[in-house]
Amino acid sequence: MRTSLLALALLVAACGSKSTPTPTEPVGATTAWKDMNADQRHDYMEHTVLPQMKEAFVAFDAEEFGEMNCKTCHGPGAEDGSFEMPNPDLMPLDFSKMDQLDEEHQKVAKWMGEVVLPKMADLIGEQPYDPATQQGFGCLGCHTMATTK
Ligand code: HEC
Ligand code: HEC
Repeated sequence: MRTSLLALALLVAACGSKSTPTPTEPVGATTAWKDMNADQRHDYMEHTVLPQMKEAFVAFDAEEFGEMNCKTCHGPGAEDGSFEMPNPDLMPLDFSKMDQLDEEHQKVAKWMGEVVLPKMADLIGEQPYDPATQQGFGCLGCHTMATTK
């Protein structure tokens, strides 16, 4: 619900039909992710992405993600301040072997695809990855690809 309101706000902002923004208005409501500078991205992550994603992660597993923070997604990038993605500390993915994951990992992978990926894509104004066109925000926006030996 909140994400679709945000999407709507971004859409309205993009159309330029919005009234003059007040200084206290969250940056994400007026500027699209792709147009944000580094400071705006930092603010948007802190005030919009982290709280909304944390809500979703806690709903999935409160014990595991109760302390979710920037580092949960960014790993080393949250420490060196680059916030570079993908994060090499997240499980590297091998898409040809997803069906060989154990039950617990399969459950997480399914939730990632159904909830995490579309929500994240929505938050940064992208379409979820479409295998047909190979466009959009996918698992590899966060995870690295496993190198097959
Ligand atoms: C749910 C996962 C998630 C969380 C939590 C998260 N981020 Fe991000 N962040 C991302 C993704 C994914 C991107 C890359 C988006 C893209 O593809 O443009 C990103 C990008 C960024 C960028 C832009 C980096 C660049 O190269 O332009 C900054 C800055 C950033 N995050 C800061 C933060 C901060 C600060 C926090 C904590 C308050 C945070 N992030 C929490 C997923 C997350
Ligand atoms: C917005 C960033 C983001 C996206 C997009 C994303 N993931 Fe994740 N993924 C995470 C985070 C954060 C974790 C939890 C890491 C932890 O437990 O510390 C995770 C965990 C996992 C795990 C469990 C790994 C483990 O060590 O238990 C699997 C499997 C997984 N993701 C698969 C996927 C798949 C498949 C996709 C695409 C459909 C995907 N992820 C998309 C951020 C992301």
